[in-house]
Formats: sequence, C-alpha cells, structure tokens
Amino acid sequence: HRRYRRFAAIDKADRRWPGQHIEAAPQWCSVDLRDGNQALIEPMTVEQKQHMWQLLLNLGFKQIEVGFPAASQPDYDFVRWLIEHNQIPDDVTIQVLVQARDELIERTFEALQGARKAIVHLYNSTSPVQRERVFCLDKDGIVDIARRGAHKVKTEAQRYPATEWVFQYSPESFSTTEIDFAVEICNTVIDVWQPKVDDKVIINLPATVEASLPNAFADMVEYFCDHVQHRDCLVISIHTHNDRGCAVAAAELALLAGADRIEGTLLGNGERTGNMDIVTMAMNLYSQGIDPELDFSNPDDVIATVEACTRIKTHPRHPWVGELVYTAFSGSHQDAIRKCLTQQDDDEPWDVAYLPIDPQDLGRSYQSVIRVNSQSGKGGAAYLLEQQLGIELPRWLQVELAAPVQQLAERQQGELEAQQVLKLFRQHFMPRD
Ligand code: KIV
Ligand code: ZN
Repeated sequence: HRRYRRFAAIDKADRRWPGQHIEAAPQWCSVDLRDGNQALIEPMTVEQKQHMWQLLLNLGFKQIEVGFPAASQPDYDFVRWLIEHNQIPDDVTIQVLVQARDELIERTFEALQGARKAIVHLYNSTSPVQRERVFCLDKDGIVDIARRGAHKVKTEAQRYPATEWVFQYSPESFSTTEIDFAVEICNTVIDVWQPKVDDKVIINLPATVEASLPNAFADMVEYFCDHVQHRDCLVISIHTHNDRGCAVAAAELALLAGADRIEGTLLGNGERTGNMDIVTMAMNLYSQGIDPELDFSNPDDVIATVEACTRIKTHPRHPWVGELVYTAFSGSHQDAIRKCLTQQDDDEPWDVAYLPIDPQDLGRSYQSVIRVNSQSGKGGAAYLLEQQLGIELPRWLQVELAAPVQQLAERQQGELEAQQVLKLFRQHFMPRD
C-alpha cells in the first residue's frame, strides 16, 4: 500500500470546530458487485467482476458483498469461481444477499459450499407501502417472513459446519418503516439467531430510498440502537442510498448515532441515484485526520477500473477525486493558493486555502492546481510561467500581463497553456524578440 503522504501530519487535537466528530473508521463493506452491479444497464461480465474484485482487495476491503447467487446464475458462478480458485484472502469475508424464501436460501448455501467464512445477508421488506401494496400482508405476516427466513438460514448453516457463518439481516426500506416495527422485526430475527458478544449478528439498516433529512435518519438509527435487544451482540450496519443527495451525510451522522459499519460502493454507483459513495466518505474521514483504513491514494486507478466495469463516467467535480477538484480558475483563488503553497512547509500540517488536502496525497500534481482562463487574475499566468517554464516575473509585469491574458482567453473561450502565456508576454514586452 502506498499510504497517504500527509496522514501523520494531521493532528486530530488541532480541530478548529466544536461539535461531535467521527473518531475512527467504521467497518466497511463494499456492495459494488451486488447493489452496484444490479443497477447497471449492462451488468458486469465475469472478467469485469474479477477486475472489480481485485481492485476492492487492493483498496483494503475486508468485507465484500459479491452477489445474489440464488437470483442470478452469473452471480452464482462468480461465487463459485472465488471459492474454487482460492481467490479469497484469509482476512477477507465474502457476503451474499438472499431474500427470505426457502428455496433461495438453500441455493445460497449451495453457492457458498467450501467457503472458509461467509456472511449470509437475509432481507425482507418492512415499510407500509411494501407491506400493503407489494406483499399484501399485515405486520404479523411480514414478521413471519423474517422469522421463517432466519430459521431457514440457521438450519441450512448447520448443514455446512466447515464454514464459519456470520448472519446479517436487513429490514429493507427501514428508512420508511415505523421505527418501533423495525425494532420488533429485528428483535424477532435476533431471537432466532441468538447472537453472542463473540459471535455477533449484523443488523443492517437501509435507507433503501432516502426519504428524510440525514439527521432524521440518524435519529432513527439512534432510537434503534437504544431499543433493540442484545445491542452488545450486534454489529449495526448502515446502507444508504442517495435519492436526496445526502447518502454520505446520512451514513456519517448514523455513525455518530451509534452505528459500527457502513455499506456502499466506489464513487456511488447503485440503484437510481446510487449507493453511498465510500470514496467520498473515506476521504472525508481522512481530511479530518482519521485513517479511513482504505487506500485511496491512487484514485485514478479506482476511477479507471470503476469506469471500465460500470461504463459510467466519473463527474469531473466528484468530491475529492474528480479531475477538476484541484484546479482553481478564478484569480483570487489562484492568488491565495499560490501564497499558501510558497509558505507550505513539507513537515508542517497541510494548510492551504481552497485546497483542503494536499493533491499529492491523491497522486495529483501541483502543476494542475492552477489553470488560466478568462476568470483568472494576474497570479495565475505568473504562476504558470514560473512553475512550467521557470520564468519569474516581477510584480509590475504580472499586472501588465493580466489584461492581454484575459483578452486572449475570452477570444479563445478556454484555458491557456503556459506556452501561449509566454508568447503573449513576448509579443507585449519583447516586441523585437
Ligand atoms: O437498498 C437496500 O435496501 C438493499 C437491501 C437489500 C440491503 O440493497
Ligand atoms: Zn441497496
């Protein structure tokens, strides 16, 4: 792993803001190969899944949901490939999703035969609209589905004692379910699975559809943690979607509200507006001095692999990693950045206006920080000449050069290269050159 360059320099104690902060990385679970994949126009091929799997391992994921093998033959085959070709490192646990139906649960355990350790992720839907309009059942009917599913998972697991089993339950549509009913149905599953402090069950709380302010979702999570039975024998997991654009915020607040684990995808691929973006959340932690325990120091590699597997382009302004994130076009920003960069000592904590982290931590270069277009002031052109061509202009010349630079950029309606700035400089100040 190439670790983040500046990580050691960030001092948590040096926080300038009051309030609650996340103090440590959560357990992460990537659902790229399941939730991410099921939302693609063209689902991943076996080769693409293998490519994505390798990336997830390289990034440091220890829990990876690899598919829904009872619902999809390619998912089944991929799980078999992982197990039969010894592709799962000892410290990594695969997870598979299954609906609470007997025949699907049986097929899921067949798919997992021979796994050293696996998380079986059982779910059924719990919200009023799902109960009343989709399943046409009352609350007792829905609880019954969960109870029978949990029993079936437990008895199937006993048929394969060589595998170390971890059970996970999701009340799908938790975010739109009455909170006391969500507690009741999870308590029913917990009664069946009988978790222990050293043999925990994962209860995963999904914002299947993000329906509220992120703090309201976090309040639900807090209430849940306070009212569910055997809290100390549970891992409380969060699975948010981005319908209101707040999936990361909701997951972060849910951690503050007592959750332990976060499910999401790289760059936020997933159903509709996507799943919670793990890259953004991990880098948010990093920027606050917390080691995210995932290695995003080479985001270009992440972007290339995700784009190749999903055929979805990454937005150039994607938080932390988009290609335009470490650029500044406006003159005042350029000037401020230039002043800070010249004062930034390598051994000191990073403290540069408009650049919350050192772009080098993500393999990006200082050169690309400043670009020159019609919005730039004098600082940008001077910086470009200095950085790229080694030409240092006195201040009065920087001022003189600003107008022709701006005019050319306006005519050209785009960015100027260092060589163009140099040509302008020669035309205006060295006419006989
Ligand atoms: O969004 C969701 O609710 C899911 C569950 C199956 C966990 O993906
Ligand atoms: Zn989901």
